[in-house]
Amino acid sequence: MSEKPQAAAEPQVAEEGSSGTAPAPAPRRGFLAGMGAIAAGGLAFLAPVWSGIRAALEPLERPPQDTDLVPVAKLAAVPDDGVPHKFRVVMDRVDAWNTHRQLPVGAVYLRRTGDSVEALNVVCPHAGCFVNVAADRSRFVCPCHKSSFDLSGAVNDPASPSPRDMDTLDVEIRDDEVWVRFQNFLPGRAEKEPVA
Ligand code: FES
Repeated sequence: MSEKPQAAAEPQVAEEGSSGTAPAPAPRRGFLAGMGAIAAGGLAFLAPVWSGIRAALEPLERPPQDTDLVPVAKLAAVPDDGVPHKFRVVMDRVDAWNTHRQLPVGAVYLRRTGDSVEALNVVCPHAGCFVNVAADRSRFVCPCHKSSFDLSGAVNDPASPSPRDMDTLDVEIRDDEVWVRFQNFLPGRAEKEPVA
């Protein structure tokens, strides 16, 4: 007796959800996925770039530094004779991105009487020449246009073209050192105006 041939199994068709909507075409899915990957990659790239730009520009956003006191000389190096003695001033200078160590920035006259020390900027307030101590050590004289100042820096000759006294500077004695708040001031003005 011959066996009855069995019917071929019906192919099973998977349902696409219960809503009955048609599935999205495969190429469209791939396009959307690609765009998402590009956007994510772009954000991942831009974040460190933006951080770098901010870091580079950050120094420009800092407020300018306030002038501070700097050590100029040992107190013992300033003779206790009431006569001005010249000392060079070196200090660190900071621009937007760099710190320049121990740059010579000017000079001061220190005049000591006992433990009291006065400081004057050596620059003439008339036009910016360097003032000298007169040979007899009784006053300052400017070699350029003959302004004359007493040892405290006050104009002592009405014929002097300087519009103001020599520029005094703040001084502190710290331990055995003389510290000065060094500043330059605009020449040709009656009032002291710091150079920006
Ligand atoms: S610069 Fe000193 S008197 Fe003119």
